[in-house]
Amino acid sequence: MSEEDETVSRKGDHVDIILEDDVQAKHNAWNDLTLVHEALPEVDREAVDPSAELLNHELELPLMVASMTGGYPGGEEINDRLAKAAAEHGLGMGVGSQRAMLDDPDQARTYEVIADHDVPFVAANIGAPQLIPQDGEAPIDIEDAVHLMEAIDADALIVHLNYLQEVVQPEGDDEAAGVVSALAELVREVPGPVIGKETGAGMHRGTARRLTEAGCSAVDVGGLSGTTFAAVERIRAEAAGADDEAWLGERFRDWGVPTPVAVLEAARTELEVVATGGLRDGVHVANALALGAEVAGMASAVLEPAAESEEALHAFLDRLAAEIETAMFLTGAETVDELRHKPIVADGETRTWLESLGYDVAALGGQRLDA
Ligand SMILES: Cc1cc2nc3c(=O)[nH]c(=O)nc-3n(C[C@H](O)[C@H](O)[C@H](O)COP(=O)(O)O)c2cc1C
Repeated sequence: MSEEDETVSRKGDHVDIILEDDVQAKHNAWNDLTLVHEALPEVDREAVDPSAELLNHELELPLMVASMTGGYPGGEEINDRLAKAAAEHGLGMGVGSQRAMLDDPDQARTYEVIADHDVPFVAANIGAPQLIPQDGEAPIDIEDAVHLMEAIDADALIVHLNYLQEVVQPEGDDEAAGVVSALAELVREVPGPVIGKETGAGMHRGTARRLTEAGCSAVDVGGLSGTTFAAVERIRAEAAGADDEAWLGERFRDWGVPTPVAVLEAARTELEVVATGGLRDGVHVANALALGAEVAGMASAVLEPAAESEEALHAFLDRLAAEIETAMFLTGAETVDELRHKPIVADGETRTWLESLGYDVAALGGQRLDA
């Protein structure tokens, strides 16, 4: 298969596998968290305002449709549907890795469709491994990155960190030395803020600090709890007869920092924080904000109704808004900023993680550096 055919087929495979197979982490850490109920909220339900700000862009709900797709024939319809809903509900949205658009310019429209809609915050997407030469292959340069941003009228550029996925991919790019300085150079040159984003294995505070030092403005922690690309790539590796990679995918399926832990870690830096990884409903979104995230991000939970129909996607987002507003009301939070200061209790594996990292689990909530 040529390189461009390979990239196109991979992006289509990902959507199919995520819709059809069980590729979720075994444990969803968001279920370990409980916001503390406020029996005297002292705010009218009607007055609750779930709007949020990300990198100076106003969103009607504290939510990003996380980077997913584009780059294969069915991608245009999904991105069109997601972008239309993001515009109508006032959400941010990222497109999937735009490498496929560089490899095969015929795929450009599958991403550019997002610019047909008035999405309040749009993020372009490239992979950190492609910032350096891989097996002698030329990296994505500054000019390419600027072109990819302009093509979709992006407000920011996401650089995804996905080395777990790359090592399980039979065709994976596993050279990593030099990525941080390449990222710092990119940040200096592109016309907009850069968001460093994991894709399901999360990160600790040290990584978030290095992203800050490289000049990133925000981080999407992309934590462990939801879609795991080790499981996705295991299925592809098995189908390709790549037994060693398939085995690695199975062994590392639940590798990573759980998303709530990663959010707390990132909230201890100056970066704005997006909490993606395993969020399934509005209560999970409220939990993420209480831990210090600016906004939450959802990938597979919105992909499922989006693949079904426009109506299913709207119904999902309406229910999500009602859940977020109800959680805010029942904690007495009129704004998302107030929600960020509400107490939250951690149980199970998440509590163990937090205790091991030295958190005061009796005082979770209000953990932002500036809180
Ligand atoms: C079909 C699909 C494709 C994805 N492709 C990308 C991608 O190209 N770039 C990226 O940064 N993340 C990508 N992701 C990762 C998501 O943005 C997100 O970090 C991850 O799926 C965890 O979120 P979830 O548990 O809500 O699915 C993809 C996720 C899905 C479901």
